[in-house]
Amino acid sequence: MNLFDVYPLYDVTPVSAKGNVVIDDKGEEYLDYYGGHAVISIGHSHPHYVQRLKGQLDKIGFYSNAVQNPLQQELASKLGQLSGCDDYSLFLCNSGAEANENALKLASFHTGKNRVIAFKNGFHGRTSAAVAASDNEKINAPLNKQQKVSILPLNDIGSFTTEITKGDVCAVIIEAIQGVGGLDEPTTQFYQEIARLCKENNVVLIADEVQSGFGRSGLFFGFQHHNIQPDIISIAKGMGNGFPVGGVLIHEHIKASYGLLGTTFGGNHLACTATLAVLEVLAEEKLIENAAQLGEYFNKKAAEIPQVKQTKGRGLMLGLEFDFEVAELRKKLIYNQHLFTGGAKDKHVLRILPALNITKKDIDIFFNALKAELN
Ligand SMILES: Cc1ncc(COP(=O)(O)O)c(C=O)c1O
Repeated sequence: MNLFDVYPLYDVTPVSAKGNVVIDDKGEEYLDYYGGHAVISIGHSHPHYVQRLKGQLDKIGFYSNAVQNPLQQELASKLGQLSGCDDYSLFLCNSGAEANENALKLASFHTGKNRVIAFKNGFHGRTSAAVAASDNEKINAPLNKQQKVSILPLNDIGSFTTEITKGDVCAVIIEAIQGVGGLDEPTTQFYQEIARLCKENNVVLIADEVQSGFGRSGLFFGFQHHNIQPDIISIAKGMGNGFPVGGVLIHEHIKASYGLLGTTFGGNHLACTATLAVLEVLAEEKLIENAAQLGEYFNKKAAEIPQVKQTKGRGLMLGLEFDFEVAELRKKLIYNQHLFTGGAKDKHVLRILPALNITKKDIDIFFNALKAELN
């Protein structure tokens, strides 16, 4: 059997990885400034993470959500404490799309309404309602297009007010920093205004923190830069440092009932252990603070490069905008310099999403390599 051929692949075959170094089948080392789509948060094969997962696997890897699993409550408590979101409860699932799918469904259950507002260049995953809220025609099948979604320009309060006051909107879904789109952000004024209008119109505000959450932006959640309180927060990516896990934080005013949501794999013992290990390392090694500081350092270094039009993003969720398309540059960085970087829907933006424990030296190495390829 062949693989269903949907991914254009670079010709690199990683076989091991440690920290921010990825080693291929020929023994060549690559520095990872992309974390496999913002997933590696505490570095590849972090010793604490490996030890935690191995220990859990020796005990029990999985049982379904029909029995007690105290690791889930341990995780919810630790997550509430570290994120400052203690007044939310946690539902665990397996990916970012699934987190958003559950968030949107909950919003519809809660309000009894069925239209969603999302924003241009947003990305929320590839499942039914999540993909319909993602601004990309190519990934929406006729089946998905049945969903009622209005995609509005970011930071345009006029069109937002017109749509949200029509009475049929159940949810607004927004990224604090657009990941796949190319690092654009809502202004604080816009984010606060949509939060206010959501309350006023009985609409659930969903903060999609799948990419910007878990410390990547320099605070635990990206929306925390704007002093607002979403009704639902979706999480995944950095949460498991590579173990597939996602979740939804649901504010206490939205009530649970048996059977409302459910999953076979979500919240299994290994997923909880992986996420607990990530939270422990984030706290122990002060990685969120590191992300904030290194983001500033990155910005300073980027300002020294004349070809960079603009640096976008926060913390270690960053983009460099050029006045040319970056596909060729990314190839040169990977094959000549052995550096992994990312692209975006905006083809002029090079995305930088390293593990949160990189150092200034790693950033210096990146900029020296970039300069070498630009000159
Ligand atoms: C903001 C955001 N939401 C949702 C998703 C979907 O996550 P997953 O690929 O785990 O389904 C992504 C993935 O890139 C994302 O960046």
